[in-house]
Amino acid sequence: MDQAGSWPESVPPKVNLDQPSAARMYDYYLGGAHNFAIDREAAERAIAALPATVAGARTNRAFLQRAVRFLVGSGIRQFIDLGSGIPTSGNVHEIAQLGDPEARVVYVDIDAVAVTHGQAVLAGNDRTAFVHADMRDVDAVLAAPELRRVIDFDQPIGLLMVAVLHFVPDSDGLAGVLGRYREALPAGSYLALSHMSMTGQPREFLERFEKVYANTANPVVLRSQEEISALFDRYELVEPGVVTLPLWRPDGISYFTDDPERFPGFAGVARKTT
Ligand SMILES: C[S@@+](CC[C@H](N)C(=O)[O-])C[C@H]1O[C@@H](n2cnc3c(N)ncnc32)[C@H](O)[C@@H]1O
Repeated sequence: MDQAGSWPESVPPKVNLDQPSAARMYDYYLGGAHNFAIDREAAERAIAALPATVAGARTNRAFLQRAVRFLVGSGIRQFIDLGSGIPTSGNVHEIAQLGDPEARVVYVDIDAVAVTHGQAVLAGNDRTAFVHADMRDVDAVLAAPELRRVIDFDQPIGLLMVAVLHFVPDSDGLAGVLGRYREALPAGSYLALSHMSMTGQPREFLERFEKVYANTANPVVLRSQEEISALFDRYELVEPGVVTLPLWRPDGISYFTDDPERFPGFAGVARKTT
């Protein structure tokens, strides 16, 4: 795509260019090229509302990568990445396959740009797939033939919901959605998630941030630390529990240099024991 925001040959047919999308705004925060003028304008408004947004996106990506390394180290060899976003550097299959070249990954996203680009990037890699689906539609996700081709439901799975659940309000049946994914996982599987939060933040920053996203395809829901901890219902959290992202098993690489306790989001990894 060029700097002016046109994408003459390859705009996927289902892309709505009248509304910014969370996937394309996140791509912009990460310095990617798969975004349009409408996304960049909304992204700049989000950054003005919450200056930690760009460092926050990088910090989130770094958490995702630490979590995947941790899971590979814990014996997980297959991953389902819900709300995976537009492929960027350090994707889940790249990190997992560094640990074990046989590792398998299925990406799922609702965004047409993420899916079109993802399918192009993964073409020819038969240990991966990219599914176009709404993660709230658990049946459609779990029955997708591409997912069934790659994932063996008799072996432990790493289920990733990284920076996606803050786009799913409780009124969309979130508790039921989480419960159904949990049921589908064999014992020994893990759930890893991160989630933006208002806990510990100046209220006015987050209200402004919420307002920017209210006008996108993906309005945001900012849960408290307690509400985010409750998303792990019936899983067993691994150390250090649900903490701000920079504090989850830090590896020395930090994009968030302010007080890490005040990062506007929480993350955790937990095991399904039975
Ligand atoms: C902030 S990005 C996070 C990307 C990636 N998980 C990461 O952490 O780097 C959120 C992604 O979730 C996707 N998303 C939002 N709601 C979704 C839904 N209901 N089903 C599937 N994907 C969704 C968006 O399209 C976007 O790509």
